[in-house]
Amino acid sequence: MDENRHKLIHTFGALAELGHQISNKNAFPETIRTSLHLLLGSIAIMRGGVARFSRFGHEFHLAAARGLGDDFPFGLTLCHEDERQFLANGLYPIEIAEAKVLPFFQVYDNSFEKARVELFVPLVIRDEMVGAIFLGEKASGEQYSSYDREIICAMGRHIGAAIAQRNMLAELERRTEENRKLYEDLRATYTDTVRAFAAAIDSKDKYTEGHSVRVGKYTEIISRELGWGPDEIEGAAVAGYLHDVGKLTVDRKIINAPYRINAKESAELNRHPSVGFNILSPIHHPYAEVPLAAKYHHERLDGRGYPEGLYDKEIPYIAKVVNLADSFDAMTTDRPYKRRRPANEVFDDLRRNSGKQFAPEIVAALFKGLVRELSGENKDRRFRRLLGREYMDTPGLLPMLRRSLNEMNPTSPLTRIGFD
Ligand SMILES: [Fe+2]
Ligand SMILES: [Fe+2]
Repeated sequence: MDENRHKLIHTFGALAELGHQISNKNAFPETIRTSLHLLLGSIAIMRGGVARFSRFGHEFHLAAARGLGDDFPFGLTLCHEDERQFLANGLYPIEIAEAKVLPFFQVYDNSFEKARVELFVPLVIRDEMVGAIFLGEKASGEQYSSYDREIICAMGRHIGAAIAQRNMLAELERRTEENRKLYEDLRATYTDTVRAFAAAIDSKDKYTEGHSVRVGKYTEIISRELGWGPDEIEGAAVAGYLHDVGKLTVDRKIINAPYRINAKESAELNRHPSVGFNILSPIHHPYAEVPLAAKYHHERLDGRGYPEGLYDKEIPYIAKVVNLADSFDAMTTDRPYKRRRPANEVFDDLRRNSGKQFAPEIVAALFKGLVRELSGENKDRRFRRLLGREYMDTPGLLPMLRRSLNEMNPTSPLTRIGFD
């Protein structure tokens, strides 16, 4: 008896060691195999197997086996009567020879006989079937004692708990994966809707076709250069795509006027930031700044913008980024009454206006993005696609941008990087 007790303590120590492997998906089959070998070794049993229970097929799937032979079935199906009986039995070893009334033992009678399996232990953990243990005869040829059965029972509980925990983890992983997919689908739907919306805004304005889409892309590039994280970059792009959503309510004639609009028309047009804010703020965006970008994208650092004439740090940061992207697109595309301006002139203008209309580090971020592309460091050619090859091939552009970056004070004491 004492020797048995000693073995039992030793085996439990080893099983406890296995515990940490349970959470490792790849190590789990190994955990089950080792548990089986420990169980067989601790009572000197000739052969045996451990199976996991699959609720979907009502089947035991063999997870580890020793000495059962190649013919032993991998999957063993249960009927409801078997399951009910096993659940009622709990974790105690069932003598197969005495349980042949159950359909399970009738169906697999030949397999059990051929593999010389004598004991069957349903692994019932918290009233739930998680697996089973099959055991052959003892090496000594002796009958299983009640003490042996206790050991089997205790180790079965340990193996069963390991399987139950693994099942729980697998279920958790499955749900997490499901949630992740759902979230991705939602996110894709949201960005698709935003882009469709941007295209709808742009279709109203025949002269500035593609303006919102381009502003979205410039905003994205600038925010990446500012070192923002993936979510912030995506949010910034959305803010860019939707910044002019308020124009949907402005008279098409004013937007498309082939002349400089008068003061009354200008007042009508200048309502679009506030209207945009009213349209966007009731929507639950994944990025809270989106409505603010619409409202304040015509504000200027020096307080001479509209609608509120905010001054520098009163302006939400995202609105400053969109403001630059918006102005940059206006300067580099043909307008009804004005051709687009040459590249050198545009960049010179941006440089001179940083600290007045634009935040210097945001202008610097735009320039850095351009330098990266012109120097070949960045191969995605996004500016080339947005501005055209000819424009990007303007002689002297790269040295000029580099010079400007050197000359410009990259940060203004009045501005700061990051979302407000
Ligand atoms: Fe606007
Ligand atoms: Fe705009």
